[in-house]
Amino acid sequence: MSGTEIRIDRAFAERLFDELRTRTADEPGVTRVAYGEGEQFAHDMVRREAAALGLSEAVDAAGNLYVTLPGADSALPAWVVGSHLDSVPHGGNYDGAAGVLAGLAAVKALRSAGITPARPVTVMVTRAEESCWFPVSYLGSRAALGVLPPESLDVPRSDTGRTLADHMGALGLQPDRVRRGEAWLTSANVRGFIELHIEQGPVLEGADLPVGLVTAIAGSFRYRKARCIGEWGHSGAVPRSHRRDAVVALAELVTTLDRVWQEMTDAGEQATITFGEVGTDPALHGFSKIPGEVAFCLDVRSGSPACLDFVHARLLEIVGEIESRRNVQFDLGQRTGSTPTALDAQLRGSFARIAGRNGIAAIEMPSGAGHDTAAFALAGVPSALIFLRNQNGSHNPDESMRIEDFITGATLLAHFLAVDGQ
Ligand code: HGY
Ligand code: MN
Ligand code: MN
Repeated sequence: MSGTEIRIDRAFAERLFDELRTRTADEPGVTRVAYGEGEQFAHDMVRREAAALGLSEAVDAAGNLYVTLPGADSALPAWVVGSHLDSVPHGGNYDGAAGVLAGLAAVKALRSAGITPARPVTVMVTRAEESCWFPVSYLGSRAALGVLPPESLDVPRSDTGRTLADHMGALGLQPDRVRRGEAWLTSANVRGFIELHIEQGPVLEGADLPVGLVTAIAGSFRYRKARCIGEWGHSGAVPRSHRRDAVVALAELVTTLDRVWQEMTDAGEQATITFGEVGTDPALHGFSKIPGEVAFCLDVRSGSPACLDFVHARLLEIVGEIESRRNVQFDLGQRTGSTPTALDAQLRGSFARIAGRNGIAAIEMPSGAGHDTAAFALAGVPSALIFLRNQNGSHNPDESMRIEDFITGATLLAHFLAVDGQ
């Protein structure tokens, strides 16, 4: 099969990216809320396009969407090519969407070239990957695999306060089947999981390369609703020796943990430490008031479980020391997180070979961001994550991607599916 047969339809991809951006615009950027209007529109758009391509369609109890191109032997377990279509608030248009549309575009290219893959190819649109809506990692993927903890169904969505089960029910889905852990995807019907995703970082851009073959996905520990409690007081009347200033205590925690991170980085360890939300209560704070309480969140990630354990131990030590010296109290709240995950080297090797055969330059690299692929790999499904070069990072309205890099990634995917990973 010559390389000329497989052509990604640029106009098809651009039309869908434009429609997605326009219909889920929330200036600045886009907002596609998990189990909300924007995500639902995106799912319906994919269903419409899949129907036009003659693909079969299915939706599981959690609302994950599956559109399938039959294979020569449809009894064989399918390649599942997927990603998510929810976004962070005022995010970029490509986070998740690039992988879903690459799957559709690759299937369309096989169809147009008259190539029937050896086995079925299913493009999967996962629900609720962004844990800013429901504080549960890889929610849709884990539901599809039957491994979502049942208590997740009772978690409130950050903007409505209504539970996941309630939002699923409002869309006519079956939360009770999800609570029972019914798996839609099993080793009997999945040969492997492949996700294309924008890199969301500066590495490929800096290396001037279009594609990254991901070796491992970082895990995390997170405290989403932490507080530091001190004592409200008069900003002029209370001397330093009597202050229990919550903001100063938190500032010391932030800068001390940042020093720990710098020392780890100098020692060659990989981790990220982020205090993403910090604030005093507008109903209580004031210009002439010593802040008696401050809320914050903490997101710590690393590809190394030992690293995560080390940072967590240092966090508790530093918290204890600041509490006793400044007479404040830290309430970290519930700990959530995810497990660092190595990805399938054999599958990655197939992509590397096919990239080489098709003149596509690629490097191996880790992922600091979390991705649905981690849920599949942790469930024992052979999984690959392919990064697409993008600009201006991600989780911001300026996130961008060159369509040429999208086409390069989708071409690699289509060649892989055409030769079934040989
Ligand atoms: O937070 C993450 O790493 C992903 O974007 N959900
Ligand atoms: Mn994201
Ligand atoms: Mn994503």
